Amino acid sequence: MEWKVTKEALATLVTDCLLVVHTEGEDSLQGCTQEVDAALDHRISGLVTEGEISGKYGEVTLVHNWGKIPAKRLLVLGLGKCSKLDLDKMRNGMAIASRKARAAGVKQLTVACSPTLNNRWNPADLVQAVVEGFELGVYRYQGYKQKQEQERALETVWLVMPGVTDSAFEAGIERGRVFAAATNTARDLTYEPANKLTPSILAERALEIANRHGIEAEVLDEQKLNELGMDALLSVSKASAEVPRMIVLHYRGAPESKEILGWVGKGVTFDSGGIQVKPGRGMGDMKGDMAGAAAVLGAMEAIGALKPHCNVTAVIPTCENMINGNGYRPGDVISSFSGKTIEIHHTDAEGRLILADGLAYARRLGATSLVNVATLTGAVVTALGYITTGLMTNDEKWAEEVKAAARVAGEKMWELPLFEEYEEYLKSEVADLKNEGGGPAGSIQGGMFLKHFAEKTPWVHLDIAGTAESNQEKGIHPKGSTGVAVRTLAQLAMQFDRQMK
Ligand code: BES
Ligand code: MN
Ligand code: ZN
Repeated sequence: MEWKVTKEALATLVTDCLLVVHTEGEDSLQGCTQEVDAALDHRISGLVTEGEISGKYGEVTLVHNWGKIPAKRLLVLGLGKCSKLDLDKMRNGMAIASRKARAAGVKQLTVACSPTLNNRWNPADLVQAVVEGFELGVYRYQGYKQKQEQERALETVWLVMPGVTDSAFEAGIERGRVFAAATNTARDLTYEPANKLTPSILAERALEIANRHGIEAEVLDEQKLNELGMDALLSVSKASAEVPRMIVLHYRGAPESKEILGWVGKGVTFDSGGIQVKPGRGMGDMKGDMAGAAAVLGAMEAIGALKPHCNVTAVIPTCENMINGNGYRPGDVISSFSGKTIEIHHTDAEGRLILADGLAYARRLGATSLVNVATLTGAVVTALGYITTGLMTNDEKWAEEVKAAARVAGEKMWELPLFEEYEEYLKSEVADLKNEGGGPAGSIQGGMFLKHFAEKTPWVHLDIAGTAESNQEKGIHPKGSTGVAVRTLAQLAMQFDRQMK
C-alpha cells in the first residue's frame, strides 16, 4: 500500500472513495466530516438525523456522492462515543474500514480526519494509528493454495489531516508502516505449519531478517549447544527428528552504552506435549507455539528499520516437542545452561525449559534488562481470556516501562503476582526445582520457574498463549495469528532510545 498526503479541499478532491469519521450521539458533524457534509448539501447529517448513520463504534456506511463532489463514494466510519475515543479505537476502526473498502473494490482511498477530534492526540501518533490500522487490517496469510484468490487490493491511501505538519506525517507514516509490517512478519511466521517452519528454517528466516537490516546474527547448532551445556533446550528437543537451534541477533544502536535490552522468545515450532501427549483434537494449533519467537523477530525487524538509539540482543531457543524413544520423561532430572538442575514433572511444560536456557544465555551475553515472550500456559486463557496478555515480573519498575509501552501499542496486558509463597509448587526432592507442580495457578507457576533463570536481572515475562491467536476477524486482528507483542517490544526499544539520549 502506498501512502500519500494531500492538502486539497475535500469538496474538490478527486478520489475513488473518501473515508470520514463520525462519533456517536452527536447531531453536529465534526471537522472534515462537516466540510464534506456541507459540500453534499447536508445529506450525511440527514442520514444521521434519520438514524441511518449512528456513529456506533465499528459501523461503516457506504454512501454515494449524489453528484455533488468528485469523490465517487464515501465511507462513514463510526467511532463510538467521543469521550471513549482513543488511539487504539482509531487503529481498530481504521482496520475495519480498510476491509470494507477493499471488499467494495476501492483501490484509491482518501482518509479525512482531524487531530482536533480528540485534543489529547499527538498528530504523528494519530497518523501512525491510521496507517497501522490499514496495514494490519488488510493483512492476509498467503498459504499454500494452488489457486490464489484473485483479490482486490487497496493500492493507494491519501491522508487529509488539517493541521498536521509534514514532519508529523512523515514520522507517523514511517512508524505505522514499520510497526504493521513487523507485526505482519510475526503473523506470517506464526501461521506457517510446522513442516514448513522447522527450527532450522526459523533460524534461516531470522538470518534473512538480520541481513536485510544489517543486524549481527549467530545461530548455535547442536554441537555448540552441547558444548555450552544447554541441556534444557536439548532435552526438550531429543524426541524430534528436527535439530534444535539457539538464534541470537545483536542490534547495536548505542555502542557507547552498556545497557542491553534482552528479548527472549519461545520458539517451539510444534508442541505435541511430549510423552505426556496432548489430546488429539486441536493439537494442530500447536504449530503456533513459536509465536513468542515470531514476536521477537518481528520487533527486531522494526528496530532494524527505525534504528532507535539503544542496544537489543534477541535470543530465540527453538525446537520441537515430539515423541519417540529418545524423549525426556516425567521424573527425569536434567541440567541447564545456568547450571541449575530441573526435575521434569510434565513433558508438556517444555516452553519454560527452553526459555530457561534462553534467559540464562541472554544474561551471559550481557542483557541488563529482559523481556521474554511465550505461548506458555493454557491457564492464562482461563485467567485473562483471549483479550489480555499475562505479565509477570521480578522488578516493578521495569514492569511499569513495559506496561507503558504496551499501552502506547494498544496491547492489553495485566500483571499476575509472583509472590514467594508460590515457590512451594516448584520444590523438588531431587533437583534444584521442578518444571511445574500440578494444581492451581498454572500461569504463575510458569512465571515462578522462569524467574529462577532471570535471577537478579530486571525481567518481564509475557504469557501470550491467549492472545497470539484470534478465533475471529476483529479490528486489527485477522482470524488466526495476531502478531501480539511485536508492537509493545518495538515501542519499548523506542522508549529506551529516549532515555539514553
Ligand atoms: N504451548 C503450551 C501452552 C498453550 C496452550 C499455548 C494453549 C497456546 C494455547 C505449553 O507448552 C503447555 O503445554 N503448557 C501446559 C503446561 C502444563 C503441563 C503445566 C498447559 O498449559 O497445559
Ligand atoms: Mn507444552
Ligand atoms: Zn508449548
